[in-house]
Amino acid sequence: MSEDFRHLLNLETLSKERMLAILDLAKTLQNNNKENLKQILQGKTIVNLFFESSTRTRSSFEIAAKNLGATIVNFDIGSSSAKKGETLLDTINNLGAMNVDLFIIRHPSSGASEFVQKHMRSQIPIINAGDGCHEHPSQGLLDLYTIRQYKHDFTKLKIVIVGDILHSRVARSLIHGLNTLSASEIRVIGPKTLIPQTIEKLGTHVYYNLHHGIKDADVIIMLRLQRERMQGVYLPSETEYQRLYGLDQAKLALANEDAIIMHPGPINYNVEITPSVVESQQSVILNQVSNGVMVRMAIMTLLLNPRAMI
Ligand code: CP
Repeated sequence: MSEDFRHLLNLETLSKERMLAILDLAKTLQNNNKENLKQILQGKTIVNLFFESSTRTRSSFEIAAKNLGATIVNFDIGSSSAKKGETLLDTINNLGAMNVDLFIIRHPSSGASEFVQKHMRSQIPIINAGDGCHEHPSQGLLDLYTIRQYKHDFTKLKIVIVGDILHSRVARSLIHGLNTLSASEIRVIGPKTLIPQTIEKLGTHVYYNLHHGIKDADVIIMLRLQRERMQGVYLPSETEYQRLYGLDQAKLALANEDAIIMHPGPINYNVEITPSVVESQQSVILNQVSNGVMVRMAIMTLLLNPRAMI
């Protein structure tokens, strides 16, 4: 591997070589026995720092770290000195003074992980577990892993991402990853107010009409409305949004019949997707969650013990 892999802050600057190395290693780890895995990060201490709520990412990193034999500390922001005005950097520098090997950081501010990486006292590796509307690289990688698992060749795929693209760090990471892996066509679909004006510069095709955009799709990624990141009114009504952009069986029938349906979670049923679509044969949503553990094991292995799998 040509360059050093010190942190995972985004997919925008992650090389194709590194991206494929992570996806390949995740597959190898999936087939490894539990006892072997437990040796890989034995003696390492990993800290989960989540300044925002999470169901999947935090527990997925925790399970992945434990599978590899590491000790993981779930830093409790609610009872920390952040409540007394301690800065993010002070929190990191103090935890860094405790012989920690890796930080996993989720923060509501875009750029938080990069800021910490630039300014912290020590050189401890960082994984960005989602920063505001910017990026969510481990989610992007698990999405790529899942697409590859079901569809194999990115160069033949029409991939559509539907919903609140504007506030979606998941969409941004995935688009960068799909471009790096040469996906044939990336379409983004949503109301004008929720599509960033510059998104076409990332090589995507914009559709404001789901019926048109979903035609012949091989992969459909549904996103929720990220109300916690909205400042102001972006939609006339949720009912109208559901009618125009919610994925139901009728709209799904316009895609290829073997199209897979993905969603990063959390799901808002009957807003962006109906329960029957979530439970359909084409849905791989829970497979994404399972794959997330393998992909995160691969990321942590390559950051902390890259020679383990040689
Ligand atoms: N996909 C995802 O980031 O989910 P959580 O917010 O539950 O971690």
